[in-house]
Amino acid sequence: MVVPERGDIFSMTPTTPLRSAGSRPTDAPAVPVLVVSDDEMLLAALLRLAAAADVTPVVARDPITALRTWSRAPVVLVGADLAPALADVAPGSRPRTFVVAHGRAPDELFRTTLRLGAEQVVELPGSDGWLVEQLADLTERLPGRARVIGVIGGTGGAGATTLACALGQWAARGAPAAVIDCDPQGPGLDRILGVERNEGFRWDALCQTSGRLSARALREALPRQGELGVLSWYVDGRVQTLQAFAAREALSAARRGHGVVVVDLPRSPDPLVDEIAARCDDLLVVTLASVVGVAGAARMRARFADHAGAAVVLRGEAFGAEEVQRAVRLPVRVQMRDQRGLDEAIDLGLGPLRSSRGPLARAVARILGDDAPDGAPGGDLAATDARGLAA
Ligand SMILES: Nc1ncnc2c1ncn2[C@@H]1O[C@H](COP(=O)(O)OP(=O)(O)OP(=O)(O)O)[C@@H](O)[C@H]1O
Ligand SMILES: [Mg+2]
Repeated sequence: MVVPERGDIFSMTPTTPLRSAGSRPTDAPAVPVLVVSDDEMLLAALLRLAAAADVTPVVARDPITALRTWSRAPVVLVGADLAPALADVAPGSRPRTFVVAHGRAPDELFRTTLRLGAEQVVELPGSDGWLVEQLADLTERLPGRARVIGVIGGTGGAGATTLACALGQWAARGAPAAVIDCDPQGPGLDRILGVERNEGFRWDALCQTSGRLSARALREALPRQGELGVLSWYVDGRVQTLQAFAAREALSAARRGHGVVVVDLPRSPDPLVDEIAARCDDLLVVTLASVVGVAGAARMRARFADHAGAAVVLRGEAFGAEEVQRAVRLPVRVQMRDQRGLDEAIDLGLGPLRSSRGPLARAVARILGDDAPDGAPGGDLAATDARGLAA
């Protein structure tokens, strides 16, 4: 890692544009964390911890340089070496400012911390883990993190897994994307996407890890179809249950390392599934246009009543979007006809989205805000108006 020279400020430029859902993600937040220190040992430790949290900080090696980003940085880590000099220039108190010391902090440092208006003194290496957590949690809340889309069926066989894979395939056309298979009883997303023979992490490997998972480590370890990473289960009878720690870490690391993350959720009642759904920006309830389908979707609406991003994806034409919207009391994001040739595409290892044409492609393009896919004629059921109703 490059440590800057004295007086340098080392960062992505402050004008770096925020990443949109379709652009290539970086492992660094759009607004960097500020580290103020000229202590080589401390800098090396802090940069290592920042890397574990997928953060690329700005380093200021003197108080005056630090003032340039002092009020804009989401978190400031002040080395014990420069804390007194920084307090002398009275930069003004600000939230999420920590004074960091190697080993036991002397009493004098606590007085300096008060003078600086910092929140607390952090002693390394004892508080390494805590600091990584703080930095990683922070980056998840920054703009530019992945859009996370949860997909769940209103009834069995509605097409949730198919839609999740298709969304991942479409999103991966422009930037790294990931699909996360949270249904141990499902067919395996790796199989649907034709990467079941590829080396790489499955859930059981993740369930054996502990500690913070870096975004890069996860991205590089997942089996891939092009830019699409697939976190799935081995379909060979090994014990398979979703584990809370692994699920939280995987989702968090995937979100930091990809542009779009799609999560295939099982319908089974499970508080962990509810928690994962709550972490999703969008929650798509895939619903067949039938009485049974609508009844199932209404049950899902009741289950996820508080979810601000819940919407229906309607498959079939027997009911109109408006009727379903009224009955389920959720917006219909998109309505689509059945896609022909799905089984064949999956058998060929191509995944459900074989081309950028057809009802499924138009539906996922619409969901991802990428209208009018290549050559898509208007008038398909996937084309909906601003309220999400079928055109
Ligand atoms: N858009 C679609 N057009 C045509 N057929 C589809 C579509 N989506 C899914 N199917 C078919 O419906 C069946 C079930 O699909 P899928 O496994 O995606 O549903 P699911 O909701 O995930 O089911 P489960 O309840 O088992 O998790 C498959 O045979 C699939 O080929
Ligand atoms: Mg499924």
